Amino acid sequence: MLEKSNVKRHDLLMKIKGEVLFNEPMQDHTTFRVGGPADILIVPKELDDIKCSITYAREKGVPLNVIGNGSKILVSDKGIRGIVIKIANTLDDVEVSGERIIAEAGCPLSKLIKIATRNNLSGIEFATGIPGTLGGALATNAGTHVGSISEIVKSVTIMDPANGSLRILTKDDCRFGYRESIFRQKKLIILKVEMKMKRSDQKAIEEKINGLREMRKRTQPTDKHSAGSIFKNPSGISAGKLVDVAGIKGLLKGDAQISQMHGNFIVNLEKAKASDVIFLIELAQEKVKEKTDIELKPEIIFMGDFE
Ligand code: EPU
Repeated sequence: MLEKSNVKRHDLLMKIKGEVLFNEPMQDHTTFRVGGPADILIVPKELDDIKCSITYAREKGVPLNVIGNGSKILVSDKGIRGIVIKIANTLDDVEVSGERIIAEAGCPLSKLIKIATRNNLSGIEFATGIPGTLGGALATNAGTHVGSISEIVKSVTIMDPANGSLRILTKDDCRFGYRESIFRQKKLIILKVEMKMKRSDQKAIEEKINGLREMRKRTQPTDKHSAGSIFKNPSGISAGKLVDVAGIKGLLKGDAQISQMHGNFIVNLEKAKASDVIFLIELAQEKVKEKTDIELKPEIIFMGDFE
C-alpha cells in the first residue's frame, strides 16, 4: 500500500508532464463504468512520463498496470493498488507510408479506421464499433468474425517495464493467439505498432464499415455500458448462444444484467458493482456447464483485488 502522505511530493511524480491522479475512481476509466479507485492513475503526455512511472513503481515496490480505453476490463470494487498508466487519446500519433500505417498505442481504433479509409487502405474495418485503443486491441488480439488485429501487424515497439528499455518485436515475437498475446502474458508496454494494410477502394471500405456497424447495432446492446463479449467463444460455438440456451438472458443482480439482446454481454444498467458482474459470470458458467458440459472462459481482464 502506498503511503498517501508522501506520495504526492515524490520527485519522479513531479516530473510527469501528463496527468497524475490520486485515488482515482476506475469507473470513470472503463466502458463498464464499474470499479473502485486506483491509488495513482497516470495519463502520460510523453515517453518520459511512462519511464518515470515505472521507475517510481519499482522504487516503491508497488504494482504497475497499463490500460487503454478500459473497454475489456472489469476492475474490482476495492480498486487497484499501485500505479495504473492509461494510454488512451494520448500518445496517439498516426503516420501513413504507402500501404503501411505506423500508429502509437493510444490511438483509438475509430481514429485508425477513419485514417485508413481516407487513404484507401483496408484491413482494420473489422474493428468497427470496438471502443478500444490500438494498444488494448493488440494486448487482447481483438477480433471479430471478419478479422483480428494480429492479421495486419508487422512489428511492435515496446517498453520493458523491468528497466524502461525499448525493443522492436516482430509479429512472431508477439505470440498472438485467440485473444492472447505476449503483451498480456508479460505485461510489456506497447508504444507503437507498424501495420501492413491492403490498397482498396474507399467506397468498398465504407460499405463494409457501414454493414458491420449496422450488424453490431442490431445484435449487440451498444446503447448500454458493457465490456463487450464477456466469454471467449468455445471452439465452433458462440458463448452468447450457450448462455441463451441456458435460459438466463435478462437475469439481474443489482444493476448488472445478462443482456436480453446478446447472451455474451453483461450490461451495467446504472450503478452495478464488480461483485454483481462476478456473480452473473459465475452463474452463467455454472448454468452453461450444467446444460451443455461446456466450460466458458472469460475474455475480459480482471484488474485489482478480487477474492
Ligand atoms: N446467438 C444466439 N443468442 C445470443 C447471442 C448469439 O443465439 O444471445 C447466436 C447468433 O444468432 C449467431 C451466433 O450466436 O448465430 C453468433 O453470434 P454473433 O454473430 O453475435 O457473434 P459472437 O460469436 O457472439 C463475436 C465476437 C464479437 C463480435 C461478433 C461479430 C467473440 C467472443 N465475440 O460474437 O466481439 O462483435 O462476433 O463479429 O469472439 C467482443 O469481442 O467484445 C465482441 C463483441
